[in-house]
Amino acid sequence: MSFLQAVLGFAVISVICQQNSGNLITSKDEQELTEKELESLYKLETLLDEREIINKERKKKAKSLVLLAFEEGLEKSEKMVERQTYYRNIGMGRRNKIKRKNNRLFKISKMSIEKQEEGFILLSAKKALVKLTGKTLKELSGDPDYREAWDDILAGSSIYLRRRKRSTKRATTNDCQKLSSVNEYRTIDGTCNNLDKPNWGAAFTTQPRFIDEVYSDGVNTPRISADGKSTLTSPRTISNSVFIINNGKKVSKPEGFNSLMSLNWGQFLDHDIVLTPTFAEEHGEDIQCCEQDSIPIKRDECLGIEMTPDEDLDISCMEFVRSAPSPDTELNAGNQVTNAITSFIDGSMVYGSSEDEERQLRGIGGKMVVKSVSGGDLLPEDTSGEAFCTLTGSNPVDDYCQNAGDIRVNVQPGLGHLHLLFVREHNRIVGELKNVQPSWTGDQLYNEARKIVGAIIQHITFNEYLENLFSDEILDKYGLRLLSEGYSRDYNKNINPGTRVGVATAALRFGHTQIPHEMAYLSNDYNTTSSVTEMQSTLKNPHLLVNKAGSRILDLVRYMTTLPTRASDREFEGAIRNHLFNGRLDLTSLNIQRGRDNGLPSYTAWREFCDLSVPSSDDDWDSLPDLLNRWKLRQLYKSVHDIDLYVGGILERRMKTSAGDQSYLGPTFACILGKQFQQLKLGDRFWYERPYPEGFREDQLQEIRKVTLSTILCANTDGLTELQTFALRRPGRRRNCNDERFIPKIDFNKWK
Ligand code: HEM
Repeated sequence: MSFLQAVLGFAVISVICQQNSGNLITSKDEQELTEKELESLYKLETLLDEREIINKERKKKAKSLVLLAFEEGLEKSEKMVERQTYYRNIGMGRRNKIKRKNNRLFKISKMSIEKQEEGFILLSAKKALVKLTGKTLKELSGDPDYREAWDDILAGSSIYLRRRKRSTKRATTNDCQKLSSVNEYRTIDGTCNNLDKPNWGAAFTTQPRFIDEVYSDGVNTPRISADGKSTLTSPRTISNSVFIINNGKKVSKPEGFNSLMSLNWGQFLDHDIVLTPTFAEEHGEDIQCCEQDSIPIKRDECLGIEMTPDEDLDISCMEFVRSAPSPDTELNAGNQVTNAITSFIDGSMVYGSSEDEERQLRGIGGKMVVKSVSGGDLLPEDTSGEAFCTLTGSNPVDDYCQNAGDIRVNVQPGLGHLHLLFVREHNRIVGELKNVQPSWTGDQLYNEARKIVGAIIQHITFNEYLENLFSDEILDKYGLRLLSEGYSRDYNKNINPGTRVGVATAALRFGHTQIPHEMAYLSNDYNTTSSVTEMQSTLKNPHLLVNKAGSRILDLVRYMTTLPTRASDREFEGAIRNHLFNGRLDLTSLNIQRGRDNGLPSYTAWREFCDLSVPSSDDDWDSLPDLLNRWKLRQLYKSVHDIDLYVGGILERRMKTSAGDQSYLGPTFACILGKQFQQLKLGDRFWYERPYPEGFREDQLQEIRKVTLSTILCANTDGLTELQTFALRRPGRRRNCNDERFIPKIDFNKWK
């Protein structure tokens, strides 16, 4: 190594260590070195000085730009609140002078408003920083100066933190250790399930992703075509082309083998694992995104769907409020979204995902609150004025909006019925436990009954629902089969159980294709229907469930367990494609737009993620043999790489189930959902097949393994005497509810 190299090496280290404050050359050097060497050294010293100045300047610049970006973020957040007040004052937070408070699928809470505000500030700061620097978020986070400045602001006593009045505290490992029942019972908000990562799967955390988000500006502007310039086709145009019922028929095809209960179970399960909040106003009014259904309003909270008026929807702008940004502090992450409920399959839609909700729903002696009427126990009433519910029954005295652990309980009566069923089951279990454990307190009874109900929901989901959903291949590939005896030992604390964006925003929404065009009661001859109601009139309206003091529940159960779902195919009923919630809304358009809003990469990126064939060029449509209606898609998308995940997933040819029927899903949705259910199983410390204390004693577990949905229906439906063994499938033969060979019961003596 030459002397010069050594000096240079030292100098570089000095610069790196930022200790290069003095001169490089000492008087001894001046005496010992040749003139040439000295000259080189002087040059080097000047160079290093200059570099240090530049470095300092860069750091200073990064700091000031990050600060400026945060200031802009704060300013934007204040402006948003001002604008909301303005819109409210001019009556645009309301429609027809009626407060539009009940058009939102989640309840506003202090937590949700705080998270939204924090998320919006962070997102706006990122957006401003990208604009100020001309760099992408990935470039910025790869630059140590910007990363340091960003982290400093988040960590220090910065203006950002000072303005963030209330910090939204997260659970720590220490907090978990203080909980006396941390190994036996779940917390209500899902924290401390994973003891090392106590917030994994918890309510009000960021939804994790299988694939990074895609936005055209890298932050939150919806993706554009792969050609880099064209906007994507309007979701409604796509819906009108591929999701419409063909051949002028009014009703889509029925499914041969699955009962309407399987539609209800899918929705019930979805409401157990995910709720993505949209932007809300602090005062609760809904946000309006279209002016007179025609002009999209330019607001950060909006992405009104522009469309050409058509036969069914005479509007040119469909209401669409964006998902509220999650407070994600990582500089390299674009827009992220929140899950407002626990991800685990834990019965959160029955018990709630916060202490506040649980307090409202819990009764005395370990039971859940019910409304006792002549037809039996019904769900309690939601008197908050926030219910997502409109009463239109002919006898309004009898109708009411129900309260449950999830605000979506009133979306449709079949779903509401499952909520009621599990509240009744909880209370029944409390009674059974009290018989075998008379000295247990209300808390002990409640906790154990909640644990058993959660276990039953997991068991039915994996034993009955997933068996219908997936092909054998997928069940095996993702380890989704249950054990028939012994304990599961494969809990893995490194697996994040969080519900992924791709699941919530697209794959699990496959269930929308199963929605029928009408609902009704079925009499005890299993042939005569009555009170036939168009689906659009029964959405958001619990009339069929609660009217006549719940005395028609048996007829509703007969209808739900006998009639088929609509086929899981590309045809969607008008009730949801044209008249969702009796408004001018198309659920399939909302699904597509939500994918763009939440930054879902395109369908082909998901195929790559799933190791399926991927087109090699923009025009290579032939490499997607599973995809039906390709000729239509070619007209809708400029590039094969533009296809929305929801559209591609729905249009895929379905795989076969273990029973030899068609499964509900094509390979891409099956892969996404397969991975998700695997994570929900392996990443759940309280998975019901695990040993006590997180799970059960072996003899108790064997009892839970016997349960089917029919067990629960028989035990909690007054007057129901016969049912098929698997209620999610259409009846072959109905069995007597007391014939334990076909409809087994739990023996609670095992809890002695
Ligand atoms: C009558 C039945 C149903 C109605 C009226 C309905 C309606 C809706 C609506 C309005 C949304 C929000 C759309 C948006 O703005 O993004 C939604 C979201 C969703 N739906 Fe459905 N749905 C039904 C059944 C189902 C079924 C059967 C499933 C699954 C098998 C399902 C899965 C989902 C999922 C996963 C989401 C996203 C949830 C979230 O992220 O918050 N839905 N549904």
